[in-house]
Amino acid sequence: MKVLFVSPEVTPLARTGGLGDVVGALPPALKAVGVDVRIICPLHRGSLDGLKSKRIAGQLRIRIGERLCFARLVETCLPGTDVTVYLIEHKGFFDRPDIYAGSKGDFPDNAERSFVICRAAIDLPRLIGWRPDVYHAHDWMAAALPACLNAIKRPEGEVRAASVLTIHNLEHQGSFSPEKFEISNLPRSYFQMEGFEHYGRLNLLKGGIQHADKITTVSPTYAKEVRTETQSHGLHSSLVYRAADLVGILNGIDKEAWNPGQDSALPHPFSLDTVETGKKECRKALSQELNLPYEPSLPLLGAVSRLYRQKGLDALAGALPKLLKKNDFQLALLGSGDPEQEKSFSNLANRFPDKVSIHIGFDDGLARRIFAGTDFFLMPSRFEPCGLAQQYAMRYGSLPIANSTGGLVDTIKDLNKHPKSANGLLLPNIEEASLHTAFRNACNIFAEEKKLQFMRRNAMMREASWKEPAESYADVYKWAMERSSINPKAVCA
Ligand code: GLC
Repeated sequence: MKVLFVSPEVTPLARTGGLGDVVGALPPALKAVGVDVRIICPLHRGSLDGLKSKRIAGQLRIRIGERLCFARLVETCLPGTDVTVYLIEHKGFFDRPDIYAGSKGDFPDNAERSFVICRAAIDLPRLIGWRPDVYHAHDWMAAALPACLNAIKRPEGEVRAASVLTIHNLEHQGSFSPEKFEISNLPRSYFQMEGFEHYGRLNLLKGGIQHADKITTVSPTYAKEVRTETQSHGLHSSLVYRAADLVGILNGIDKEAWNPGQDSALPHPFSLDTVETGKKECRKALSQELNLPYEPSLPLLGAVSRLYRQKGLDALAGALPKLLKKNDFQLALLGSGDPEQEKSFSNLANRFPDKVSIHIGFDDGLARRIFAGTDFFLMPSRFEPCGLAQQYAMRYGSLPIANSTGGLVDTIKDLNKHPKSANGLLLPNIEEASLHTAFRNACNIFAEEKKLQFMRRNAMMREASWKEPAESYADVYKWAMERSSINPKAVCA
């Protein structure tokens, strides 16, 4: 079975968050279960830095509205794997400091950039003589792909390639003014309520949901949540309509890339056998790095996050002065995003210099040292399609304290509900009272060393590899191929 991943980002070539990590880690696991998988992604600025093996595979011809664009197709290998990656080299569209937005907000040509990715993926077989059985599109930037496939005129009897759309985050939909539909070169009939039209606008993710053979979300709980009015960001009707073709598959993590025993970013790598001393040493070094007094009698809580509304850390910032009054703990936060949130955390760090440390920005090494050096890891997300950070934290022996939503529910075993296999704490919501209870519980667990060690071991031993999810995706691909052979026509042509 031949599968082409179509994605705006892939770790380590270009990454803004979890989407890149998944697209970088799932393909090697799919290869291991016998799927011939390759990836196509734009060549963003800096993607090829330090990569030795690369060759030009040909020139892509891409029609965007009336305009014919040419882009070079660069072939390389995903570092550390034998997975082939094709990069779309178009300086005008992709040679930019960031992937989605600049200093003035979202790039104004994001709709065009999205169609360049989809059209390039469809032109690819012409250049390399390898035709995917399944196109696996990720998030809104690749979401127009299923419709583009459905619109291709094929000779009688030829089966079209199947499509799978994975939703990593329903909040980002690719919503544009209706005139932008012109650049798609799709049949006019696709711009209607059963297709790309959403309250008068062009909505790329909705078009993908309507047209894909199969749809996946990145956790089973999120697959249920997205069908409800309150958690669908306006797309529940489409998701309810497609419910029979929708499945949630929990993300794994790359257990080699995230291995506390062999992590060169850590001052004292540790395994299950050496966790107690290892974490102590990591904490000591982290305190020094962050300029926090080393206080081994207090729990150290960590957070590594983008500072957006989704992640709920604003609720924590608001409650923190009171939380600190009632409980004794320290907090280390690494993140960036909303300037308001950055400011409120900086103010808190100034106000409580012995208790709170904030590092604005993103730093992979420091993120790892926070996972390793902290006792608990905070994830008060308002919604969380899957969440990878809590899984990284668990692997590094930091117990998650998280809201009961999406993939957090599917990955964390709460102490009250699962006393025998607990690996974290789940909050019923992120209101101040719930945060208080959770922080009090965390301090109590920390004070009971045996319980802390027991939960820590459970967290570190959690099975989080990509093997099982890869098998589930392989099933979804088969299922999508069956559907495309039964239903070769476009959904709403
Ligand atoms: C998005 C989601 C996150 C998920 C990740 C990878 O970033 O917000 O919950 O883990 O995609 O699927």
